[in-house]
Amino acid sequence: MANKRLLLIGIETSCDETAAAVVRDGREVRSNVVASQMGLHAIFGGIVPEIASRKHVELLGAVVDEAVKHAGIRFTDLDAIAVTHGPGLIGSLLVGVSAAKAYAYALRIPLVAVNHIEGHVYANELDGAPLRTPAICLVASGGHTDIVHIEAPGVYEIMGWTRDDAAGEAFDKIGRLLGLPHPGGPAIDGCARDGHPSAIDFPRVHFPDSLDFSFSGLKTAAARLWEREGDRHRLADFAASFQQAIVEVLVQHTFAAARQVRAAEVLLAGGVAANSALRQAATAAAATAGVPLRYPHPALCTDNAAMIACAGHHVLGRSGPSGLAFDVFSALPLAAHV
Ligand code: KG4
Ligand code: ZN
Repeated sequence: MANKRLLLIGIETSCDETAAAVVRDGREVRSNVVASQMGLHAIFGGIVPEIASRKHVELLGAVVDEAVKHAGIRFTDLDAIAVTHGPGLIGSLLVGVSAAKAYAYALRIPLVAVNHIEGHVYANELDGAPLRTPAICLVASGGHTDIVHIEAPGVYEIMGWTRDDAAGEAFDKIGRLLGLPHPGGPAIDGCARDGHPSAIDFPRVHFPDSLDFSFSGLKTAAARLWEREGDRHRLADFAASFQQAIVEVLVQHTFAAARQVRAAEVLLAGGVAANSALRQAATAAAATAGVPLRYPHPALCTDNAAMIACAGHHVLGRSGPSGLAFDVFSALPLAAHV
């Protein structure tokens, strides 16, 4: 299908953001509306799936209307719809996918199902330039920590993933322990700015002959230390040292993968890619390795629908529409782990 000048609306409801965005030609963001439920879940210290899906039902219609209005278009101008169908919370995904199917049916336009992780990867194209392959993309979010090798457009393999907690999950759990607001990632990032990253020597886990990650040992070590002698450390030092332990491993493994595949560029993606220490460390590693580095604007690192519309544009061009009979998946690997 020729996909030039296509006007796509993306819909994203995989977790706790209700989002819709209009994107032209896969890269020009015409509107990007994100209604965050963060405040709603904050009192529970984490996301409550049943509350998340009910809130999506409440918000999605208005969010889609707003995205169309902000883009300065009418529903009838839309050429296609892209929607996240996994991985994520099943109830939340169902709300977005059911609505997207209804819009596609009513408007008689094609619908394309998008993998959330591929959406995060493509957030890097929203700065205007196409991805250059082979590329390595670190996708680090609340649920995933994947080193994705993009061999060619749409051709992926996973060179490393987490064997236990995701990086964002570790940030969130330790943030909660330190009494910081939910989500812990941005809170620790802010708190760490006044701290010394080498104040506490937290464990770094590497596996022989593997680029996989493990953060549960670090999380337990940090929790035990905080309980035992939290009062002896400055909160900022504790946060900076914990953050440094995660960032170092992420950057080392990502650039090891980039060397292995002789990557034309390295990309960061997912909520954790908004982390200022990660962006700094990756920038330094990229300069040393002599490989270009890209990362999205922080607002496009965390969940949004512009990235889903962008990825949807590519999937539509490659594979055509998905029809109306596809399902949602809580686990949906982008590719096999090599
Ligand atoms: O991609 P995302 O918005 O949702 C998922 O797909 O999971 O990622 C959310 C995760 C949360 O764990 C949050 O704490 C983390 O990204 N995060 C950060 C930062 N901003 C968001 N982690 C570290 N530093 C940040 N600045
Ligand atoms: Zn995400």
